[in-house]
Amino acid sequence: MLRVDFTNIMSSSVSDQHGIAEADAADLASKTTKAHAVFSRWRESKDAIFFDMVSDSQIAAGIMEEAHRTSEDFENVVVLGIGGSALGLRCAAQALLLPFWNLRDDKARSHRPRLFVMDNIDPDSFSALLAELDIKRTRFVVISKSGKTTETAAQFFIVLEKLRKAVGGSWQKNMAIITDPKDGDLRPFANKEGVVSFPIHPKLGGRYSVLSAVGLFPAACVGIDIGGLLSGAKAMAKRCGEPDMERNIAYRIGGYHHHLERTKGKSISVMMPYSDGLSVASEWYAQLWAESLGKGGLGQTPVKALGTTDQHSQVQLYMDGPNDKVFTFLRVESFRSGARDTTVGSPSDHFGYLKGKGLGEILNAEQEATAGALAQAKRPNITVSFPTLDAHHLGEFFMLYEISTAFAGALYGINPFDQPGVELGKKLTREILSKG
Ligand code: PA5
Repeated sequence: MLRVDFTNIMSSSVSDQHGIAEADAADLASKTTKAHAVFSRWRESKDAIFFDMVSDSQIAAGIMEEAHRTSEDFENVVVLGIGGSALGLRCAAQALLLPFWNLRDDKARSHRPRLFVMDNIDPDSFSALLAELDIKRTRFVVISKSGKTTETAAQFFIVLEKLRKAVGGSWQKNMAIITDPKDGDLRPFANKEGVVSFPIHPKLGGRYSVLSAVGLFPAACVGIDIGGLLSGAKAMAKRCGEPDMERNIAYRIGGYHHHLERTKGKSISVMMPYSDGLSVASEWYAQLWAESLGKGGLGQTPVKALGTTDQHSQVQLYMDGPNDKVFTFLRVESFRSGARDTTVGSPSDHFGYLKGKGLGEILNAEQEATAGALAQAKRPNITVSFPTLDAHHLGEFFMLYEISTAFAGALYGINPFDQPGVELGKKLTREILSKG
């Protein structure tokens, strides 16, 4: 079970001016009651369908069978998608696949495909990838909820042409499509051409979709334990059903961030995992937090960092710069590799304190030290601990932050499920491209 340590966000650690104080409790409690009612209505209207869908025992139906076929027939899976259609999967792959997955040989990958998530349209990367892969042995998974996203559409048309050339009349088996059941251009295309497809619930927004076919199908293709992801998410949804903030860790996270931003000037939320496996978790979080809450002049700017790397890059600012941030550390108590090959044996006298210490122990000591140092400098922070980095705990994490974000949206009084601010840029892109 994930553990969240709130000690360093409380005023007893970082002062009344910068932390959550006794005096804030009444205000938080009354706002929580109202926000919980809003969140409950969102569950009923299915706007917050991410919360209940993980309890649907049918959610993985069909996915496993097709994923099994994919891993038997293909040596590469290439995902075409962007934003919420890519980040959750990238996070799961980074956390749960063996490190350097694509560099490992077939046996080390347990005969599963390599995975490439193409969530940008840089021509150098895209052409290099297509040139490197054996297209015939590649399955392209096209993911777009709306079926209207320029970047994914451009990738799709390029790939379609290449597939038709390389594979001929049976190119359909090299593709899978994940999109809305009715809307957009991809659905009629999938139906007409007989391409395998999975629906995304019409009310499920991209950044809340990692535990739908969007994240689960490609994850299952490379052997990620999707049952574990779902069981973790379900356990967290159950754990965070309580209306009382004190008994609901998701409400505490969302509520404390909102409160510190609104009343104590913490306009920035830094997430800093101390684990390479969790390095994309902060990217996933940044999108969720920014796109859900940045509305109507409100919101809190998310920043991604990585421990210990960014101790040597950003922590000077965090300790000594403006006190306008709230920090979230992620840590892993027990690393998969244990202390195998990564224990310091015979250091010089100067580094005697490292003798017998594994890299995981050093990493976690540095996380504890950074959190403690920030608290001493009156910088509020919380620590989320993963007992181990596995599918169940990652599923818990996804659900924890989806609930926290939606709850913060209820506190801000905004709709955390839409993204009206990105429309104008899309329209202007279409106009610019239509001229040329
Ligand atoms: O979270 C969101 O809704 C967005 O980030 C979308 O996922 C992103 O814009 C891609 O949209 P689509 O899946 O419709 O191609």
